[in-house]
Amino acid sequence: MITVWANHLMKLAAALVALFATISFTAETWAEGQYPGRWSSAEVEQRITALLAKMSLTDKLGQLTQQYPEGKFADDIREGKVGSFLGAHGAANTNRIQRIAVEQSPHGIPLIFANDVIHGYRTIFPIPLGEAASWDPQLVEKAARVAAAEARASGTHWTFAPMVDISRDARWGRIAEGAGEDPYLGAIMAAARVLGFQGTNLKASDSVLACAKHFAAYGGAEGGRDYNTVDISEQTLRDVYLPPFMAAVDAGVGTLMSAFNEISGVPASANHLILQRILREEWGFGGFVVSDSKSVTDMVAHGYAADNDDAAEKAIMAGVDMDMASFSYRSHLEESIRAGRIPIAIVDKAVRRVLRAKFALGLFDNPYADPQREQSVILSADNRTLARDVARHSIVLLKNEGNLLPIGKNVRKLAVIGPLADNSKDLLGTWAALGKPEDVVTVLQGIRHRAAERIEVGFSAGCQIESATPKGLKEAVQLAADSDLAIVVIGESATMSGEANSRSSLDLPPVQLSLLRAIHAAGVPVVAVVMSGRPLAIPWTADNIPAIVAAWHPGVEAGNAIADVLFGDFNPGGKLPVTFPRTVGQMPIYYAHKNTGRPATKERYTSKYIDIPWPPLYPFGYGLSYTTFEFADLKLSTNRIGPFGQLEVSVKVTNTGEHAGDEVVQLYVRDLVGSMTRPVRELKGFRRITLESGKSSEVRFMLNRDHLGFHNRHMTYTVEPGLFKVWVGPNSAEGLEAKFEVTSQ
Ligand code: NOJ
Repeated sequence: MITVWANHLMKLAAALVALFATISFTAETWAEGQYPGRWSSAEVEQRITALLAKMSLTDKLGQLTQQYPEGKFADDIREGKVGSFLGAHGAANTNRIQRIAVEQSPHGIPLIFANDVIHGYRTIFPIPLGEAASWDPQLVEKAARVAAAEARASGTHWTFAPMVDISRDARWGRIAEGAGEDPYLGAIMAAARVLGFQGTNLKASDSVLACAKHFAAYGGAEGGRDYNTVDISEQTLRDVYLPPFMAAVDAGVGTLMSAFNEISGVPASANHLILQRILREEWGFGGFVVSDSKSVTDMVAHGYAADNDDAAEKAIMAGVDMDMASFSYRSHLEESIRAGRIPIAIVDKAVRRVLRAKFALGLFDNPYADPQREQSVILSADNRTLARDVARHSIVLLKNEGNLLPIGKNVRKLAVIGPLADNSKDLLGTWAALGKPEDVVTVLQGIRHRAAERIEVGFSAGCQIESATPKGLKEAVQLAADSDLAIVVIGESATMSGEANSRSSLDLPPVQLSLLRAIHAAGVPVVAVVMSGRPLAIPWTADNIPAIVAAWHPGVEAGNAIADVLFGDFNPGGKLPVTFPRTVGQMPIYYAHKNTGRPATKERYTSKYIDIPWPPLYPFGYGLSYTTFEFADLKLSTNRIGPFGQLEVSVKVTNTGEHAGDEVVQLYVRDLVGSMTRPVRELKGFRRITLESGKSSEVRFMLNRDHLGFHNRHMTYTVEPGLFKVWVGPNSAEGLEAKFEVTSQ
């Protein structure tokens, strides 16, 4: 009987899959032809059709070409050879270029100006990894909104953000640009950023078109080396790397960028699986895809295309609509079309998608930026206030022995030490758009301002970020010895993370570790403020320094935000969006790993290294506060649900300490037995709450099919019957635990 039912269910599942495929197809057709509301309208589609009828092949391929405003770019515009620029900034400048397109190009089609507005335009916010550490999507959305308003006022219509790549190997420099290691947190942050950049109306003067990048799995680069090979199963692709992209698409992202890397043998920029089957057919994406910079012609070096001609054909056939910077479409595709290798319908479809975005942005009616608005919006006082708030929410307190922080009233002399203490440039972090060092409040300035007359503040850099010897060490040690407390600001420069900045070591630069050790040896209590674009391996610091603050690269308001935290004006509540390792040798390390057949224990034949303890230095989701929280009364609304059912999980959280503070309440699940092995824990819900001292709050989460399934061997998303564990707690290594069962019907 049971087998008969199982067979029925299998058939039903197959029918549902088939139905889903039809629905997806319908969604695509709908998206292409009659996308209502903010993307298009019947009138816009007609205007595009009329334009397409007039455009020459050169004009069409021009719309699919993005270039820098270099060389004879003005002639290119006049000849209809360019549809988009990257790297043009400023209202006056972009207006000047735009005027050529509108007044002198064959059909007056406006240009779309793109830039990498990753964490702010001029008002620079914390790097995205830092913003993710806030675990506060509303705040992250607001930051993206400000970035959009500044960028749009300066003539930028389109940002190459959010970067939503999952990264589990901190050697990869670009880990700084994303939300860390986790697909769920990554998906929430991706959606928040898309909503922030695009707002509800792309025509608005404070909205820009967003671009989810790098599609896909760029963060899976072997060894964390940038641009390196990615070889992963389709299941890992779908369950780990794709959820943030899917969330971006669901949030209405207008564009995606195809990545540099290959995925299991096929470069992302010619990958039918991701660009056609998943993106267009399964997700019904109706926007357009741009390649990464020269990723089309890079396919020759990959050994996937014979020459640039072949590369262009492969990319457009796979679904890359616009070529960034390689000129391969406009240089090669005319011949491919004339020779019948590429159907003109494919080109027309791509042009339609690009033009639709230009209409959605309102560029046909209003192609120019307003220089007056630019003046008032850029780096406004309100924008700086938000930058300070985001920065202090992104700070993670890693250690606070003996409640050394916040700085006590007994401190009369404070030593501020370290190469990043009075540094402005590096605090902006990687991809800082138009951020300027002179806009940055340094840590020293922030502390001096807050300390005012009450505390004497001395400063010594002690060494440079990466010099061989610590010049100034003696002076720094003397200053520390003469002070009540030393704040040592150390870590990475902005250029130690980001594109092409992968590292083979995750240590503090040796000269800075020597400085820290010397200050510690001076006998003064030490607070280490660690700035970085990635998790660093800081085992000595963790063992010896009583207070440690992870500040990432915090942006223009760095010094004020850090002073807010150090002096207790703001109680830190950020949590790690990525695991901190003990050593680079643990890479890749992430909490949602598989159990293996020999999970690590003290026994010899188990999965671990023999020369270090197996847990990380600090787990994913970890972070302290100046107060303490207690979790109690974990309750499930039911212990059994069907595969389409749902249950509520609730917990009581109490602030048991003496200060008001924030806790990020985190919910994890584990599917104990599956037809494919499942991770030991997976984040499926979180909420950052604020509680006054002594107060409690009941936090509730809903768990349903969206949280409990995975892609099975047939690449079908499925929730399998069986036992599940659930934890609710303050990080990925702790929490109250319960169990429930998913029944087969
Ligand atoms: C290459 C980078 O990979 C991408 O993220 C960026 O948007 C483009 N260059 C344009 O600057």
